[in-house]
Amino acid sequence: MDTITTVSPLCRLLDIPDGGATAVDAPLADGGQSLILLRDGDEVRAYLNVCPHAGRRLDYAPGKFLLKDDTLICAVHGASFQRQAGVCVAGPCRGDSLRAVPLRVEGDQVWLA
Ligand code: FES
Repeated sequence: MDTITTVSPLCRLLDIPDGGATAVDAPLADGGQSLILLRDGDEVRAYLNVCPHAGRRLDYAPGKFLLKDDTLICAVHGASFQRQAGVCVAGPCRGDSLRAVPLRVEGDQVWLA
């Protein structure tokens, strides 16, 4: 995925609950997009906040996600995605994947890579 150079971070690491998730808006090459940011300690991974099932956001309220064990669950129809790889392991789009977005963490700041 093409990203664009940004002059400010997406957020601070501490804005994302450890073991949890939040959503941020990001300026990607194909337009502004909502991203899901998932944090595990100092690691953060990002996916487009677009479900491969029906193209809806996965959060039930802005930045609020259903997380259970190692899965992220789409609030619309319940598809379950592996946190680590974004692959749908249960639900209506089994086998499809969330679209990953490259990030980097510098100190306490999370940036598009
Ligand atoms: S839109 Fe996500 S499971 Fe249907």
